[in-house]
Amino acid sequence: MKPEKLWNLLQEMTLEEKIHQMLQLPNACYQQKNNLTGALEDGTLTREMIEQAGSILSVYGAKEVRRIQEEYLKHQPHGIPLLFMLDVINGYQTVYPIPLAQGAMFDPALSKELAQMAAKEAAVSGVQVTFSPMVDLVRDARWGRVMESTGEDPYLNGLYAAAMVEGYQGDSLSDPYSVAACVKHFAGYGAPDAGRDYNTVELSDRTFEEYYLPAYRAGVDAGAAMVMTSFNTVNGIPASGNRKLMRDVLRGEMGFDGVLISDWAAIAEMIPHGYCADRKEAAQRALDAGVDIDMTTGIYSEQLADLVRAGVVQESLIDEAVLRILTLKNELGLFEDPYKSLNEEAERQIHLCPEHRALARKAAEESFVLLKNDGVLPLSKETSVAYIGPYVNNREMLGSWSFIASTDTVQTFEEAAKAWYGEGAAVRYCQGAPVLETGTPISGLGSQTLPQVTEADCDRWLREAVEAAKTADTVVLLLGEHRFQSGEAASRADITLPDVQMRLFEAVCAANDNVAAVIFSGRPLDLRRVSQKAKAVLEVWMPGTEAASAILRTITGQCCPQGKLPMSFPYAVGQVPVHYNEFRTGRPLTPEVEADRFRSRYLDIPNEPLYPFGYGLSYTSFSYQPVTIDREEAQIAALKAGDALHVSVTVTNTGKVTGTETVQLYLCDVAASVVRPVKELKGFQKVTLAPGESQTVTFSVGFKELSFTMADGERGVEPGTFIAYAGGDSRTPNAVSFVCR
Ligand code: GLC
Repeated sequence: MKPEKLWNLLQEMTLEEKIHQMLQLPNACYQQKNNLTGALEDGTLTREMIEQAGSILSVYGAKEVRRIQEEYLKHQPHGIPLLFMLDVINGYQTVYPIPLAQGAMFDPALSKELAQMAAKEAAVSGVQVTFSPMVDLVRDARWGRVMESTGEDPYLNGLYAAAMVEGYQGDSLSDPYSVAACVKHFAGYGAPDAGRDYNTVELSDRTFEEYYLPAYRAGVDAGAAMVMTSFNTVNGIPASGNRKLMRDVLRGEMGFDGVLISDWAAIAEMIPHGYCADRKEAAQRALDAGVDIDMTTGIYSEQLADLVRAGVVQESLIDEAVLRILTLKNELGLFEDPYKSLNEEAERQIHLCPEHRALARKAAEESFVLLKNDGVLPLSKETSVAYIGPYVNNREMLGSWSFIASTDTVQTFEEAAKAWYGEGAAVRYCQGAPVLETGTPISGLGSQTLPQVTEADCDRWLREAVEAAKTADTVVLLLGEHRFQSGEAASRADITLPDVQMRLFEAVCAANDNVAAVIFSGRPLDLRRVSQKAKAVLEVWMPGTEAASAILRTITGQCCPQGKLPMSFPYAVGQVPVHYNEFRTGRPLTPEVEADRFRSRYLDIPNEPLYPFGYGLSYTSFSYQPVTIDREEAQIAALKAGDALHVSVTVTNTGKVTGTETVQLYLCDVAASVVRPVKELKGFQKVTLAPGESQTVTFSVGFKELSFTMADGERGVEPGTFIAYAGGDSRTPNAVSFVCR
């Protein structure tokens, strides 16, 4: 429809018809199934609301979407199609690594391809909007939703946010395989006090601006069609009623003119927040803040018409919201074809096709991070090995948001290994332990109950595992969190592996010196005990549909690990929040003052995380020449005009196999009008080198890399000394200094 006709359509609608477009129904309203996320409101939705709501979430599948759209359009007086939205977080049917694992790839371009693949699979199943990418910056591994983020760095997160938006949306929302992206959760949701989900967020304006906002801005700049509000308060006001945040920052400063949707029931939650006295005030505050769609509460449909007739809210605010919703439906091409790309035959051809599985496996392999390796990996086919642990014969490797895909499509590690080793290999497979102690309360999206395991089972499994460990040359333990121990409403105060698995770990290590640990998790774990006794540690996150083949290929050297940590792994949970780009403090703990008690330090643990941001090993080794810079001084005025310094470093593969290294550039502003981080990631390049091969990598350092929000609130570069670091992780000492005047 020509955009100018949307206004005419709006004029034809009654006030109630307009308001119902601002309601998003939970899937239960059309399916009587249990709702998937959040708490369905207390049944306030009337038949009229259900028949005229503008959108619905968590309904998918070509046949089901067609059935509901046909039913819906029978009652829609203006032929306005229903909009279908869904959480496609890390794949639709072909599931790929969770976003935190994608961050470890240091490969936004690959994430763009993954998003394109997910959009294609989702579009043929009737999905028109995905509630992705989640771009919340995270620093607290206790928070379960770190698994949905790409990590602790604003620059890296911004690259991924843009890449995923572009991947989902393609060149045009009307393209058959495009879905609208929804950047979430605006804003600052990734910083809940104590890592407890839905908890209060308290950030300084500066921290908010410098660390938490950039990735949202990158997603908006990439053209995201939608933004979702967050559950938390920002400066004491819930995001969904925060006029300053939504109208001044999001729409004013960032220029976002798309649809703003609340998170699940977030408008109603302004009442328990203590910001609104009742549903009437909640409706008014949310509309005033510019929230266009109310996810599942019905408050808008219930309250807004009376508020307009009472002169409390302007109908023009409703018109602007509904026009944005109609514009999105129009840009998706739904007025021309409300069924757009949904197609059951296409579902059968596209879902889980070999090309998609291959892409998912490539991403999984790129996401694995080798944290330790004292020569025990890779395994040769001749090595006698015992594969032991709850992830040996387990299909639950998709992450907590993959309720759409069936685990029947996922091969177990044991199946993949048996196929590769063939008959007669000196290889054994043992369960060793359950994922969790029996009776551990666990639930999640597409909930499941844990298999009932008896004490006798556990004892037998442990005995068998120890016996197998005694006779094998090498043991590979496949251990990890349950997939529902991360994700929404999955905060953990203790971020170690489950006790039942640590008992297995200790028993196996007592029986065999050559132990490699493969770790499945949705967050950085406290791996201190594991790293002390295992000779190799490989973090595989939640790798998705092709987990088994990717892990097998990696531990047998058919491919070489290359992942780098997008989030610090703490030495202990007491360090959390821990992140590489911290401030120096007035009493920094440096080697020169290691013995000084009166420093910013702990009595009982080091300050450094166990494994830092940007860290990851390979099966080969890399050496770096001293980093160089093309000149030691730059004029700030010239930098503003586009001048740039060039920082170069030569990296050499000093090992015996080809490997891929992510060369990272960090900058430090030594002294400024506000304290600055000890270093900040400002660039990275992946290089693949054969044994003995070298490559010089050069980074451009200009105004964009050097500028920050100065004390006066302006963005700029201040005179002074800077340090450029270039190396294989955030701890690299390979540095050169320069001056800006
Ligand atoms: C959930 C999540 C949000 C998700 C939405 C719809 O509560 O906070 O990320 O997109 O509800 O499922």
